[in-house]
Amino acid sequence: MICATTIPDGPDAGTVAVVVDGTPTTLEVGPVTSLLRALRTASVPVPGGCEEGECGSCSVLVDGDLVCSCLVPAALVDGAEVTTVAGRQRPDLLAALAAHGAVQCGFCTPGMVVAAEAALDAATAAGEPLTRATATEALTGNLCRCTGYRGILEAVVEVSVGRLRATR
Ligand code: FES
Ligand code: FES
Repeated sequence: MICATTIPDGPDAGTVAVVVDGTPTTLEVGPVTSLLRALRTASVPVPGGCEEGECGSCSVLVDGDLVCSCLVPAALVDGAEVTTVAGRQRPDLLAALAAHGAVQCGFCTPGMVVAAEAALDAATAAGEPLTRATATEALTGNLCRCTGYRGILEAVVEVSVGRLRATR
């Protein structure tokens, strides 16, 4: 996850063209407009919380890389493919999260899903399911105030095992 404590200046203000969840989208940007703010201004419903790189609720993929969108200057993503939770969630993970009581207030859930799906993809591609330890590491940038993480981790590991089994 790309998270930093300061937002570097980007190029001049203007517009950038990105593809968001498969839809060509124009973002209005200023020199320090974050990708999170630009997406929300363009009515892309990415949740935001701390806007300081601490909570992970704003997680998206930029050209496949997991980032905190609050810390990525929107002006630097011209031409990128941006994937939000709307374009990434899969029913098996959502069902597992629900079954494990891993969604309470729901504040963290979109970012958790984006980060978990990135880790699940990597694990499936590597042919090794996520363990509790590797799932914990993958979700370390995503804070949850409600669940204590146990159900989230159990759900992610369960889905990882299931997806890998389905490939064999
Ligand atoms: S809103 Fe981006 S990390 Fe909290
Ligand atoms: S379910 Fe409330 S913050 Fe995670």
